[in-house]
Amino acid sequence: MRDLPWPARVYLVAVIGAAAALIVRSVVVSGAPVATEHLDILLVLALLFLVCESMPTLLNVEQFAVSVSFSASLAAVVLIGPDGAALVGLTAIVSVRPGLPLVKRLFNGAQFAICGYVAGRVYEALQGQVGVPEVNAFDDLIGPYAAATAIFVPLNIGLTLTMIGLATQVRATEVPVRGMTQFLLSYLGYGTFGLLVAGLWATVASISAVLVLLPLFVARWAFGQYHAQQRSYDATIAALCQAVETKDYYTRGHCTRVSHASSMIAQEIGMGLERVRAIRYAGMLHDVGKLGVPTKVLQKDGPLTEEEYAAIQLHPMRGLEIVRGIGFLDEAYAGIMHHHERHDGTGYPMGLAGDEIPEFAKVIAVADAFDSMTSDRSYRGARPVPVAIEELRKSAGTHFDPVMVAAFIRALDHEPWQPPRRVDPPPPEATETQIKDHDDPTMPIQVVTGQ
Ligand SMILES: [Fe+2]
Repeated sequence: MRDLPWPARVYLVAVIGAAAALIVRSVVVSGAPVATEHLDILLVLALLFLVCESMPTLLNVEQFAVSVSFSASLAAVVLIGPDGAALVGLTAIVSVRPGLPLVKRLFNGAQFAICGYVAGRVYEALQGQVGVPEVNAFDDLIGPYAAATAIFVPLNIGLTLTMIGLATQVRATEVPVRGMTQFLLSYLGYGTFGLLVAGLWATVASISAVLVLLPLFVARWAFGQYHAQQRSYDATIAALCQAVETKDYYTRGHCTRVSHASSMIAQEIGMGLERVRAIRYAGMLHDVGKLGVPTKVLQKDGPLTEEEYAAIQLHPMRGLEIVRGIGFLDEAYAGIMHHHERHDGTGYPMGLAGDEIPEFAKVIAVADAFDSMTSDRSYRGARPVPVAIEELRKSAGTHFDPVMVAAFIRALDHEPWQPPRRVDPPPPEATETQIKDHDDPTMPIQVVTGQ
């Protein structure tokens, strides 16, 4: 609390105070917020809210965690009215989330109580009937319930974002709009489950909550597991990249940038989400085979012998050998194996040409060359982006697939490239060598025939 800026502290106290006033008011006015015969409903919904709130799941929207607990609040709006909905929301204070500070618990509980109460008032104002709904009166609930949901969700998000904004001094306009829209729509969609719980209550009572929300809860949990798995994949890939980049002083960050440029091209040519994810991995790992090439060959000053050049040409195959056992890479294998093929058939390792080259490899070839040209190397400074684009244009149809070059240039129009910062001077022993980059299309590797 002491770490919060004063406007955030004032806001926090105001939200908690408002929630406390609502609860006290309902006790004073009605004697009890919920009638004794409805205590069982209150307990079931509060328990359900608590279970869901204790295990929020990251949505497919980065940075946002969501729980389906608010469906229980909305069911309470119908079954036990605004005061009951406020009490259900208040249970967020005791959610089982180890490490969650008391201040956050109090804020969560207070804002859910306010949202439940306001939604309940809107529901009542629109003639929504409070209590276990009759089957033949169910249609009459839909309009008031939709209005209650339409108030609850934005109010919940607004109260939370205001707190985040005041606490972190990030303006709400800086929150990604696309992510927020997805978040809002998914929240509104989950809101309908509250209506189902209320509707089924007349038939199966408390089991309705389990019937409706348990499968949903399990689905959210499974989605959370999927996210955790994705994070572990990302960490594995990042560790492999790190291992490659430690072999070459000048290629730090190269894998990440190739990965990013590859995903820009992939999105531009209309690849689906799963393929874009796979090509990100392929971009990260395209040079993992360097681990199988002796460092002295990779860093050799001057022309290479035929044997040394052959060792470099083997790095795509070595890469494939290294990652072959990683099941989730799928199509990324083809990108790793063939990223040095050339459109005219003069590349390696297989000498494939044109449409024989896998699509992933065509994409990575462009991204790889572009990042190499726009990065510092020991034998030259980084080229400006327009110069690198011109080089790509010149080599479209010979070195690169013209479709991929055109797609990358279009992608750069809406997302300008951020070249890496200048590389600090390397240690003295490294400056004495002029290490050639095998990805740089403007600096062909010199090979001497061995005699
Ligand atoms: Fe390579």
